[in-house]
Amino acid sequence: MAFTPKILCFAGSLRQDSYNKKLVKIAMEGAKEAKAEATFLDLKEIPLPLFDEDLEKSQGLPENAHKLKQIMKEHQGILLACPEYNSSITAALKNAIDWASRPVPGEKPLECFKGKVAGLMSASPGAYGGLRGLVTVRSILGNIGVLVISEQVAVGKAHEAFAEDGSLKDEKQKQHVRDIGARVASLSERILKPE
Ligand SMILES: Cc1cc2nc3c(=O)[nH]c(=O)nc-3n(C[C@H](O)[C@H](O)[C@H](O)COP(=O)(O)O)c2cc1C
Repeated sequence: MAFTPKILCFAGSLRQDSYNKKLVKIAMEGAKEAKAEATFLDLKEIPLPLFDEDLEKSQGLPENAHKLKQIMKEHQGILLACPEYNSSITAALKNAIDWASRPVPGEKPLECFKGKVAGLMSASPGAYGGLRGLVTVRSILGNIGVLVISEQVAVGKAHEAFAEDGSLKDEKQKQHVRDIGARVASLSERILKPE
């Protein structure tokens, strides 16, 4: 029976005009072209408090953490564009990962992450395009059971790289980003197809 993988696409930035939101939407097109169903999630629309074990203990998971977990569980693949803040992952992304990693009754450990396939990318006005931050993102996801594909893209000089319509001006770079989307889609289809 045909299986259509579902790919969740989001950025580790809350900023409205985020380059990384634009970037992940390009990868999302590649995933759709490879016959996946792709969903864009803006983390700004599900604000989360700073993770605090005391708060978790007294009040349980906030409603938006439940929402985030639910949407993650409905998808097999992840496309993630994360800016680099001080050479590392953004607080917004790490906070979202921490909340999503918390188990609720009836759930397998790390159910939002384990066995999923992810593709990473970043964009920054700097010369390295946020590449150093991706090292940390890759390491965190790998440690919680996500298969992160080796291909990745870091778009430098992001303030000059995007056209008005949000696309990348450099065709080769645009194709590379779309290819990441397509690769995550095809791998998700192949290895996560239910038996
Ligand atoms: C707190 C902070 C730290 C930053 N550190 C870095 C950095 O280490 N390397 C880098 O290339 N850009 C850094 N930047 C610049 C971001 O790459 C830039 O703001 C980028 O536009 C953020 O991504 P976004 O457009 O998706 O929001 C930093 C920005 C902020 C706000």
